Amino acid sequence: MNFNEINSVAEYERLRQQFASVEGWLTALEGYALFKLAEIGPGVGRIVEIGSFLGKSTCWLATGSQQASREKVAAVDHFSGSPEHQPGQGFECEAIVREGTTYNRFLDNIRSVGVEGYIDPIKASSEEAAGGWRDPIRLLFIDGDHSYEATRLDFSLWFPFVCSGGIVCFHDIGAWEGCTRYYNELVQSASGEVHQLGRVGSIGIVQKV
Ligand SMILES: C[S@@+](CC[C@H](N)C(=O)[O-])C[C@H]1O[C@@H](n2cnc3c(N)ncnc32)[C@H](O)[C@@H]1O
Repeated sequence: MNFNEINSVAEYERLRQQFASVEGWLTALEGYALFKLAEIGPGVGRIVEIGSFLGKSTCWLATGSQQASREKVAAVDHFSGSPEHQPGQGFECEAIVREGTTYNRFLDNIRSVGVEGYIDPIKASSEEAAGGWRDPIRLLFIDGDHSYEATRLDFSLWFPFVCSGGIVCFHDIGAWEGCTRYYNELVQSASGEVHQLGRVGSIGIVQKV
């Protein structure tokens, strides 16, 4: 019997409880996949998240990297919410209705989990942030605007920084039409830029060739 597997079950449950109070659009299983990639994923370079919202996925990523004493997480978001989070829209966000931004709630959440020292918030659009970016990336998590055009733009802006063998994760594959269509095109394309490693919940995971 491999006792490490039993330890993983206990670790998953401990983290699930730790992050339960942080609001967000991520299941605990998806969070644990990000945690493991941040902890033991391949490559050398930064971890970049496009779309942090209230910090749920950021907390999982930062905790994984912190556990292995690896890189901090760059959390890129303009913190104004996606179209569906705006007042009166399908996934209206209370912080946006109240304050017009998710930034203060994001900071409260990462502090409540104790990972604020492992996160560099970048309060900017994906496009602005990519314009000033210079570092290699070993793990890129794309969870910003879910339209086809925005997902394609996020990938094209940030993929050049991903190291060979680095990992790119896309959230809400199968759940949102635009990002799903882009993801399917990417993994089926003959360009050979990436190969698909698999899916955990709605996270599609590819590796740079
Ligand atoms: C689906 S939410 C992210 C959910 C988050 N990853 C979680 O675990 O709960 C999408 C986020 O992307 C951000 N966003 C949308 N378009 C963006 C853009 N062009 N640049 C930066 N952030 C963007 C929104 O402000 C929103 O916070």
